[in-house]
Amino acid sequence: MAAERGIPQSIVDEIKNRNDIVAVVEQYVRLSKRSAANLFGLCPFHSENTPSFSVAPEKQIYYCFGCHKGGDVIHFIMDIEKVGYLDALRLLADRAGVHIPEPEDAGYRKRAERETLLYKINAAAAAHFYLNLTESPKGKAASAYLARRGITGGTIRKFGLGFAADDWEDLWKRLRNKGFDAEVLSGSGLFRQGRDGPYDLFRNRIMFPIFDALGRVVAFGGRVMDDSQPKYINSPESAVYTKGRHLYALNFAKKSKEGSLIIVEGYMDAIAMHQAGVENAVAALGTALTTSQAQLARRYTENVIVGFDADASGQEAALRSLDILVSKGCHVTVLQIPDGKDPDEYIRRNGADRFHDLVKRALPLMDYKLLSVERKSTRDGDLDILDYQDVACKVLAAEPNPIIRELYAAKVADKLGVPSEAVVREIERRRKGVEQAAGQGTLRDRLAQRQTGEPQEPAKPFPEDPLFLLCLIASSPELADRMRISPEPEDFPEGVIRDMAVAVLARDERAGAGLSGLIGLAGDADWHGRRIADEAARMSFEIDAMGDLSAIEEAANSYLSRVRKDRLVARKAAIVAWIAAGGEGADKMEMKEELLDIDVQLRQFRG
Ligand code: UTP
Ligand code: MN
Repeated sequence: MAAERGIPQSIVDEIKNRNDIVAVVEQYVRLSKRSAANLFGLCPFHSENTPSFSVAPEKQIYYCFGCHKGGDVIHFIMDIEKVGYLDALRLLADRAGVHIPEPEDAGYRKRAERETLLYKINAAAAAHFYLNLTESPKGKAASAYLARRGITGGTIRKFGLGFAADDWEDLWKRLRNKGFDAEVLSGSGLFRQGRDGPYDLFRNRIMFPIFDALGRVVAFGGRVMDDSQPKYINSPESAVYTKGRHLYALNFAKKSKEGSLIIVEGYMDAIAMHQAGVENAVAALGTALTTSQAQLARRYTENVIVGFDADASGQEAALRSLDILVSKGCHVTVLQIPDGKDPDEYIRRNGADRFHDLVKRALPLMDYKLLSVERKSTRDGDLDILDYQDVACKVLAAEPNPIIRELYAAKVADKLGVPSEAVVREIERRRKGVEQAAGQGTLRDRLAQRQTGEPQEPAKPFPEDPLFLLCLIASSPELADRMRISPEPEDFPEGVIRDMAVAVLARDERAGAGLSGLIGLAGDADWHGRRIADEAARMSFEIDAMGDLSAIEEAANSYLSRVRKDRLVARKAAIVAWIAAGGEGADKMEMKEELLDIDVQLRQFRG
């Protein structure tokens, strides 16, 4: 949250107050439609033909019903300018002429200094590894290894590749000699603590510095030069490196003019692709793409081509990653590399031109999914028709776009040798199930329609979600007073949502501005908080669309009752277990009193 970042809440509030969300958004988006309370335009975060990007001037928030991005004016600048929380604040402060004082908070400054130092240490280590490889006799075998794999001197320079000597203290001594503090070095992730002091983590390995999008070295991967295990070791997490949040080579790929990113698995794949002139390649570093990597990619482009290894485990990872990318609003296609090769191997054997052809022929997502189904249903060269029709219809039933469903139904029907109508009918039959199961998703669709003035449908279930309840309370604080049980922070899950609940329920000044205040609490650059901001923005539009809240008040009451009851029952079980385990002393009296109190409360639920 902002306060922890060292900028006083009063300044954040002033920046928000002086930057009306409509005026800021209109610098980027033409808001051409309006309903009673909201403005609509074409979403700047995904491509679309009918406006589903909405701005609520009263609440000072935005939400896109197409790609599900949302938040307050600060989040909007983060999304559109692709900057972090602090930079977004600075841009808005400049725009409105608000002066941001230097952070007073000593903790904040100390952290910033430590981070700067870690970047320096990583840069010095990378330079050392690079010189080992290119200048020192120690790096002979490593140079030969890279040459054997076709890596040129230019590529070594561009990616800062290096070599960690076969020595326990080569890097440690070097960096100590350069004057870096032993304590800070120990926290850099480059060393391990042994009985006789720290020693180098990376030994006798080819070194790959991992750069962040700004080109700073945040971590390293190190590869053995033979078949020994583990093949790679990677830096542990540190103050400047969190696993699963970076995309290797993004610092280069972001400059490519392709308008897309190709995500592959490994260091060597990304490097070989860049060397072959495929300059939009990045690597996920491991098999499963994380949500924050998907989000990071989406900051740079909507078009993502996934090129994971074509072995069985690679295909599974690709399927999972595809859904994650789609959920972040990416348009996804899938690279088909023949003969189970990874991109590096394919380029080495077939050359850059053939690889470019593969990229051009990347499969649309639905083709890829159906092809995977077909492969899985094929045994000894024969397609198991029953198995295939079942899974293929299931995959198609999950597709929200009716045109895509029809198009691919025809292809599946062709394979099965049945009339297309039969497949369409089966898909639509299953779809009814999907729509009922995914109450949330279809509610969202219906609301999107309602917001844009398309046909309306009645009825809206109460989403059983603590965040929804919190949004409800923030948008209508009197509701909290009227509720049968008054909500407490403990009724909300620990973490960001609990912190928000504390502020909202205390009617703390930070949550002062209603829903916009609540959404502001959810989030800075931390991806988890950011996701909660997206969700909260969506929910507040839902709450709006509900109009008369009295209809769901009863549902809110019974939801909270259930949450509270579950909480009391869990607490009771914990106390009983504690006493049964022989818990003694002054605590025991207190525990027994609490137990009585819980029983009284639980009896009320029964009554
Ligand atoms: P791969 O095994 O496909 O390696 O792992 P690679 O990148 O193709 O390397 P070469 O071609 O054998 O030299 C893909 C990625 O998974 C991570 C690395 O980031 C690697 O680039 N990985 C793999 C590890 O972190 N540790 C391992 O032991 C193996
Ligand atoms: Mn490889």
